Amino acid sequence: MNDLWRSIAHGRGRIALLFCVLLLGAAGCLYPGAEVPYVQTPTEVVTEMLRLAGVNGNDVVYDLGSGDGRLVIAAARDFGARGVGIEIDPQLVARSAESARRVGVADRVRFRAGDLFETDLSDATVVTLYLSPELNLRLRPKLLRELRSGSRIVSHDFNMGDWPPSQAIRVVSRDRASNIFLWIVAPSSARAR
Ligand SMILES: C[S@@+](CC[C@H](N)C(=O)[O-])C[C@H]1O[C@@H](n2cnc3c(N)ncnc32)[C@H](O)[C@@H]1O
Repeated sequence: MNDLWRSIAHGRGRIALLFCVLLLGAAGCLYPGAEVPYVQTPTEVVTEMLRLAGVNGNDVVYDLGSGDGRLVIAAARDFGARGVGIEIDPQLVARSAESARRVGVADRVRFRAGDLFETDLSDATVVTLYLSPELNLRLRPKLLRELRSGSRIVSHDFNMGDWPPSQAIRVVSRDRASNIFLWIVAPSSARAR
């Protein structure tokens, strides 16, 4: 399944993405309510995402669709931030909380089972994403409505349509290349979207 998701990530198109979601849904592998499957961001890419966003001890990092919690846990353990993971699959939420306890950051992170579209983002200073092109576009108005000026958004592999990133980098990890995109939220008076 990771190979299929990788082919999508490498730009083989919306038809492949739709096929993947339908296939997973039909096979019962997509958690009910989940709009994209669970696929992990490689560790090296996690580090580069947080570095590109300039995460530090003053930040509150939200990962929307947090999977096994790796982005939020790395933000706390390696960058001194606090973090919140929102994940629709409660088993992944439980696994994330257990991992946070194991690495000693449970007091600085929280994991919540829920729909990312129903989550209040107003205390986030950094938002991390590994979703899909469509979900990024649907999320964009919410991000611009709820995030404060200067907040950073980092996305693994998927862009935000016609909203150009402030920076984009390519990271080669073990068996694949990933794109990472960074956007910085402008003051509300200058937000066109
Ligand atoms: C591609 S995985 C990314 C996991 C993690 N962020 C990472 O980068 O390793 C996407 C995650 O989003 C979750 N998800 C999908 N739709 C969601 C929704 N509407 N609300 C919350 N989580 C969702 C899936 O269950 C999955 O774990």
